[in-house]
Amino acid sequence: EIEQGARVFRLSLTPGQKEFVTGVASPTIGIDAPYLGPTLEMRRGEWVQFHIDNKLAEGATVHWHGFELPAAADGGPHQLIRPGERWRPSFQVRQRASLYWYHSHLERGAGPQVYAGLAAPIYVRDDEEERLDLPSDYGVDDIPLIVQDRVIDGSGRLVYPLSMHARMMGVRGSRIFVNGTENAVFDAQTGQLRLRILNGSNARLYDFSLEGDRSMQLIASDGGLLDRSHIVRSVRLAPGERAQVIIDLSEGRPLRLLASSPENAMGMMGGRGMMGGGMMGRGDSGDASADVFQILDIRPASSAQRIRVPTQLASLAPTDPSSAVRTRRFVLDMGMMGGGMSINGAAMDMNVINERVPVGQWEIWEIANASMMAHPFHIHNVQFRVIDRDGRAPPPLETSLKDTVIVNPREQVRLLLRFEEHTDPDLPYMYHCHILEHEDAGMMGQFVVV
Ligand code: C2O
Ligand code: CU
Ligand code: CU
Repeated sequence: EIEQGARVFRLSLTPGQKEFVTGVASPTIGIDAPYLGPTLEMRRGEWVQFHIDNKLAEGATVHWHGFELPAAADGGPHQLIRPGERWRPSFQVRQRASLYWYHSHLERGAGPQVYAGLAAPIYVRDDEEERLDLPSDYGVDDIPLIVQDRVIDGSGRLVYPLSMHARMMGVRGSRIFVNGTENAVFDAQTGQLRLRILNGSNARLYDFSLEGDRSMQLIASDGGLLDRSHIVRSVRLAPGERAQVIIDLSEGRPLRLLASSPENAMGMMGGRGMMGGGMMGRGDSGDASADVFQILDIRPASSAQRIRVPTQLASLAPTDPSSAVRTRRFVLDMGMMGGGMSINGAAMDMNVINERVPVGQWEIWEIANASMMAHPFHIHNVQFRVIDRDGRAPPPLETSLKDTVIVNPREQVRLLLRFEEHTDPDLPYMYHCHILEHEDAGMMGQFVVV
């Protein structure tokens, strides 16, 4: 049922055309736009209602990544919107202020649809954050950056090369687009800038940094503010993950945001064999090894004041694993040559509920990576805490609420979580690897909250 006064969003999924290279149009998918879609702004506590028209020639879904909501509104593979149909989910916005996003979650088709453009940011605002006076003027001192790598062929067209190599490693391109733009430039008018970075790539991990090794203030992760800001020189994000940083422009010098690919630098599989030789080099996806990508050039205003970012940001409950009443274990594996994408030995089956999770109980979810490449593990309908990685304390980005977490090769990450409400014995939520080609190939499972 819908609360009176719910805010209504009307959106259409539409076929588009976009010039990734000037003068050459490629077919794309957008949300009220040729490619990507509008940033939706919501307030914590309010009710939202959507009218989503699918004007594509194919089925699609729209998933609210990071949101706690009824399973029927989740937008996972069970909420298919057929061509010509309208989907009308509604829910109350429960999470803390942060950057979230919405994107396709089509059964075995999230990879190509997100790649074609079916993704966009969501800003959730709340009172707790507004009290802090952080930069929050959208498009002025607070900007979202959706970072996506794309394969552009010799004729300038966007291609989705689902080769053997890409089925295993995920589709990775050697051209980087930010909010759909290559070599993006931002003219700042203020002395500091808040960047909300979303790794919206299908498969590539990035280490974001400022040219010249300058520092940034890390203030938030997937699910909102950290308890305090951290001075960092780089931030690693896997697909699906977000981070917010504040950068200082008061010196009036131009700054450049860069990203490198950690896996390429290390050797994708950690040099541990299995996929040696030709498979590891430049793939047919045009994957360039050890590249540093230019993400954004920031041009400062001539005179700008620096405003102090408060050190103390949020008050978060301590992560207390002793409150957990049970532990569930999830083992991620790829099989030989990536032919056996699985969790706990099984590939995703739309007709199998893998886990039944009681509402309101703290649990520890142990995510173990049995393969030789990193997987970003994502859970729907919850913001969790990271307890530890192989027994080690989590890094600053993982000290707040998260919905997606990197699990490195042979590593085990322990998460603490609780589903607060929204029980439904029949309709499941998903947990999965957020490398979209892995998700599409079955590294996904289903759970119900009961
Ligand atoms: Cu961002 Cu299950 O997805
Ligand atoms: Cu999600
Ligand atoms: Cu994966």
